[in-house]
Amino acid sequence: MARIVAGIGSSHVPAIGAALDNGKTEEPYWKRVFSGFEKSQAWMRETKPDVAIIVYNDHASAFSVEMIPTFALGCAAEFPPADEGWGPRPVPVVKGHPALASHIAQSVILDEFDLTICNKMEVDHGMTVPMNLLFGKVDKNAHWPCLVIPLAVNVVMYPPPTGHRCYMLGRAIRKAVESYPEDLKVVIFGTGGLSHQISGPRAGLINSKWDKNFLDNLSKNPQKLVKIPHIDYMREAGAEGIEMVMWLIMRGALDDKVDEVYRFYTVPASNTAVGHIILANRSRAARKSAAKSKRPAGKIKRAAALAKADRVRS
Ligand SMILES: [Fe+2]
Repeated sequence: MARIVAGIGSSHVPAIGAALDNGKTEEPYWKRVFSGFEKSQAWMRETKPDVAIIVYNDHASAFSVEMIPTFALGCAAEFPPADEGWGPRPVPVVKGHPALASHIAQSVILDEFDLTICNKMEVDHGMTVPMNLLFGKVDKNAHWPCLVIPLAVNVVMYPPPTGHRCYMLGRAIRKAVESYPEDLKVVIFGTGGLSHQISGPRAGLINSKWDKNFLDNLSKNPQKLVKIPHIDYMREAGAEGIEMVMWLIMRGALDDKVDEVYRFYTVPASNTAVGHIILANRSRAARKSAAKSKRPAGKIKRAAALAKADRVRS
């Protein structure tokens, strides 16, 4: 059966993609950001997922403001990078997993989460920037190292879904994945945030205390996060801080108790707080999957412990 082995939280700041695409990763400002993902890329190379479910929000690329689905699942065979005003990013076309995506759609819709099904969709920086941060730079004529199922969430026009709704959708996605018969190793990303506001009198707002508390609870006590109302996100984390509800879909798809493999936090990137976390499932199914990878599960656990000891807290 398919199984979710880990969840990844990552900001998706568009300027990070621009820095990568324009060869600025060694500049001190950007090196501070990219160096925080080096251990994560090593972890990803070891983990070798077959499929990544990537929860992100579209920034008026695939959906205009004329039509904004609350939850939209990508069921296509491929998802081209969107032109966000400067031409498409020089990254490979994202290859999907239509069979698993359709299975997830059926399972969660029958569980009363009414997803929009997208059989054709372009994807923007909300998805491709976290992919670069976790998979590294990939030539646009090459292939991303795993298949991807995009899940776009409306956090751009009020009302977005509640944190609790997101968390429960994560639970339903996990149930769907675990009822898929093929033996697949799956990871799930929650992207966006952390605190930031890009316009208005509070433009540039960053609240590191809030962000770090969010990461602590995401790791150890997610139930403290699921009841946070929208207004608290907006007051404490800025208007665009509401993107953080997407991380709760990722968290809902994991075990109640998880191993925190790695964490990174730095400010700012452009005008945004960059947050990143990797949380590994402890369940028997996840361990079984880890044991099937080339590297023994024990080594993965030791690597996780070493990474945890090295955790960057800036
Ligand atoms: Fe965003």
